[in-house]
Amino acid sequence: MPDQPIRIGILGVGVVGGGLYQILESNAGEIRRALGTDIVVAGLADIDWDRPRDFSVPEELKTTDALALINNPNIDIIVETIGGTGVAKDYVMTALAAGKSVVTSNKELMAKHGEQILSAAAQHGVDVQFEGSVGGVIPIIRSLKESLTASRLDEIVGIVNGTTNYILTRMSQEGKEFAEVLAEAQRLGYAEADPTDDIEGIDSTNKLAILAAIAFGARVPVEQIYREGIAAVTTTDLDYARQMDYVIKLLAIGKRDNDQLELRVHPALLPADHPLAAVSGVFNAIFIRGPECGEMMLYGRGAGALPTGSAVAADVIDCARNIIHNSAGRVSCTCEGQAQIKPIEEVETSVYLRMRVADRPGVLGTIATIFGQEGVSMQSVIQESAQDNSAEIVWIMHKGPEKNLQSALSCIRDLNIVQDICSMIRVVE
Ligand code: HSE
Repeated sequence: MPDQPIRIGILGVGVVGGGLYQILESNAGEIRRALGTDIVVAGLADIDWDRPRDFSVPEELKTTDALALINNPNIDIIVETIGGTGVAKDYVMTALAAGKSVVTSNKELMAKHGEQILSAAAQHGVDVQFEGSVGGVIPIIRSLKESLTASRLDEIVGIVNGTTNYILTRMSQEGKEFAEVLAEAQRLGYAEADPTDDIEGIDSTNKLAILAAIAFGARVPVEQIYREGIAAVTTTDLDYARQMDYVIKLLAIGKRDNDQLELRVHPALLPADHPLAAVSGVFNAIFIRGPECGEMMLYGRGAGALPTGSAVAADVIDCARNIIHNSAGRVSCTCEGQAQIKPIEEVETSVYLRMRVADRPGVLGTIATIFGQEGVSMQSVIQESAQDNSAEIVWIMHKGPEKNLQSALSCIRDLNIVQDICSMIRVVE
């Protein structure tokens, strides 16, 4: 049994860094049993030691100088829980160049600079682990890289953002509109003061880029992923969806399509009996399909100090094990070239459409004729009359090329009998 402890430095003592520190303190016995030695926190760096924290850190471990930890020859592993792609990237690259393995929970960093970071790790013979970057406690990255490494995957669909899932769940359950639920979520601390990354789907897009690169073995330029957020989803759409046995979720969708990948983040109608439909509130889940594994789903808490902190702690233990057994750097990037991403216009989807039209003879027929001319096939239609001589029509269209639908909609939008095309939400079967 090795008795030399493995020493780590933690950069960024916020929610995740703090959760990691608490877990390493409270679960030291379990960790020693698993690893055969201790993980010792040799220092924690943060720019603000005055902000309130619900745990205490010994004064002698606190620093504001991250580089002092990175350059400390007695520290073996650097944990980056700062976030963003500014100093976090500089520190990670400096730590790798100094021959230290790195653990990060930074999805934006790995989504945008994963290739550069993994190459640097391979060059210096050290590890980079990033389980905490997607799905919090859910062991999705390790499952894809290790447990499913011999399986070909055709599809990976995730609810990977807790904030938006919480908002959509409450809208659906309580009949409150997006803005009201968002404001309440911010008051309760479930949504950030600036929620843009979450509600616009940016956070989910970064996570999808990471998952798709591993699942499909190709580098994914995150800016090429099609993205829509949830701000336009209304309780009216959630109600119609429910009537038709669907739920609405913000999904991160990755699919293999011959030599191309379909990658998109958008709200979607999902059949109520799909395993992802039962994922409510702040929970995350990732559904996978492949010829060998069949259908499977991993579910758990996608954020929070202890869930994400425990994923980061497991990565630290993994890096520590590799250091003890002189096997650091044995796993590097598994991507082969860059993914060919199918443009959204080429993607074939089924859609839900809600429009407000004049309630008079021939309206439905006129619109249906345009859909037919553009090759868009109807699956079902509901019409509800309002009191002001207008009617709301809700269509579900059969799966077809998105470009046909867009060209039909651009003609329909110009008809004077059409007051508004209120919603267009893709349907996932
Ligand atoms: N902002 C993320 C979410 C949590 O709402 O799920 C961390 O990835």
